[in-house]
Amino acid sequence: MAEAEGEGGPAQAGLGGDQQQERAQAEAEGEQRQGGRAERQLAVGAEQGLAADQEQGEGGPPGAALGEGEKEATVALEAGGGLFGEAAQQVVEAVEDAQGQAADGGEAAAEQVEQRPQVGEAAQAGAQAPAGGEGAAAGERGELAAERGGPGGELAAEFTGARGDLLAEGAEARLPGAIRFFLSTASAFVTGQPLRITKLAKGDRDTGNFVKPLNGKVVMVTGAARGIGAATAEILANEGAHVVVLDRPADDQPASEVARKIGGTVLLADVSDPKAPEQIASFLKEKFGGVDVVIHNAGITRDKMFANMKPDVWDATIDINLAAVVRITDALLSGDVLREGGRIICLSSIAGLSGNAGQTNYAASKGGIAGYVRNLATKTAAKGITVNAIAPGFIETRMTAAIPVAIREVARRLSALGQGGQPSDVGQAITFLSTPGAQGVSGQVLRVCGGAFVGA
Ligand SMILES: NC(=O)c1ccc[n+]([C@@H]2O[C@H](COP(=O)([O-])OP(=O)(O)OC[C@H]3O[C@@H](n4cnc5c(N)ncnc54)[C@H](O)[C@@H]3O)[C@@H](O)[C@H]2O)c1
Repeated sequence: MAEAEGEGGPAQAGLGGDQQQERAQAEAEGEQRQGGRAERQLAVGAEQGLAADQEQGEGGPPGAALGEGEKEATVALEAGGGLFGEAAQQVVEAVEDAQGQAADGGEAAAEQVEQRPQVGEAAQAGAQAPAGGEGAAAGERGELAAERGGPGGELAAEFTGARGDLLAEGAEARLPGAIRFFLSTASAFVTGQPLRITKLAKGDRDTGNFVKPLNGKVVMVTGAARGIGAATAEILANEGAHVVVLDRPADDQPASEVARKIGGTVLLADVSDPKAPEQIASFLKEKFGGVDVVIHNAGITRDKMFANMKPDVWDATIDINLAAVVRITDALLSGDVLREGGRIICLSSIAGLSGNAGQTNYAASKGGIAGYVRNLATKTAAKGITVNAIAPGFIETRMTAAIPVAIREVARRLSALGQGGQPSDVGQAITFLSTPGAQGVSGQVLRVCGGAFVGA
């Protein structure tokens, strides 16, 4: 953890899709635009990031490599955006068609969607839900029918939701928790994005209890010895939870301090240890009879320009940030250690949503988390378990303290508030997702980035 860390690296907050697209547009039109200043800041940040990389003894000439990298990133984004836009449009069209025809009999709709192989499983499942008789036959809206149609159905609902449908029909009772969060200071560093309230996760948990809503709940936070994990553990405990503070054996002292302060329990384990899933599952089962909320917060950065990245650096990052999360979650679900109505919250990053120079490994791991929660949420829904990710922007922790000072300052200024977030900003968002009031939020990625990355 100590070496070469630096969340956000060169310009983690800055390489958001909007800014990249703006830059490409400005270049095409040959204009001097207002956004140019921010773009130049990004370029400076990226250059310094590369220079820092070089200081570690690797890398080619900074200027040349940066220019190429930037060009490649812009081209890739444009190409990706085009392809994605087309695919999304096809899915939306197919689901619309299917929904339109569902009232007259869903089978015809399903057939029509099948004739569009490129649209794939998502639209098919969305179309087949009404055919099952539960959606259109009951007079409910197509989105809801899609929501009940299995994994593909939820994906279809995501697309229809992307057009502005943020509250699923019948999910109104699940709204107060989210409204309360967004109206309070707990969401101070959350801005510029939608959150969807759905009926995806089953269950009628009491969503109206806002006083110590986690009373009697057992919550495990990995990587809780410091930074975001420690701040989260403290907020969760304030809301009534008993917190299991997990960190590496080498971090016994800071982990124990956190646990003592909040009346929690220490669990020392390296999450990347192949034996860790079984050990964690047994510990939680034997000591507490199970666990209610699991927060996969432990994570590392090992920044290097991709051309200079050794396989072990790639593997370690993917293993700790992504594969360990999957292994531990599997053990907790297959052993029924995570109780019904439970919560799984994973730490992604806006670097995982936008990509970032010098952080290919990190971005891949955190992008993987975003896809993982979307998928897993559909599988745990029947047990009322919600699965979400938080994608922080630049947050002031040990991880970001390792970034060279000039780049750090640029990263701070890229947020709409002109400052970095605090660990407690992320902790508040995690705590909101942990509460009964967040039953309507599942399969989503909530950004805590101060508006450094804006959009749906
Ligand atoms: N700080 C940011 O700006 C930022 C931004 C986006 C995402 N994140 C993510 O938030 C999470 C917390 O980050 P942070 O800034 O608090 O980092 P941090 O370095 O301050 O703390 C991370 C903790 O995880 C623990 N950890 C690392 N590897 C572990 C392992 N194999 N087993 C058990 N514990 C392990 C460390 O010991 C440490 O206590 C990470 O997943 C990180 O990727 C942070």
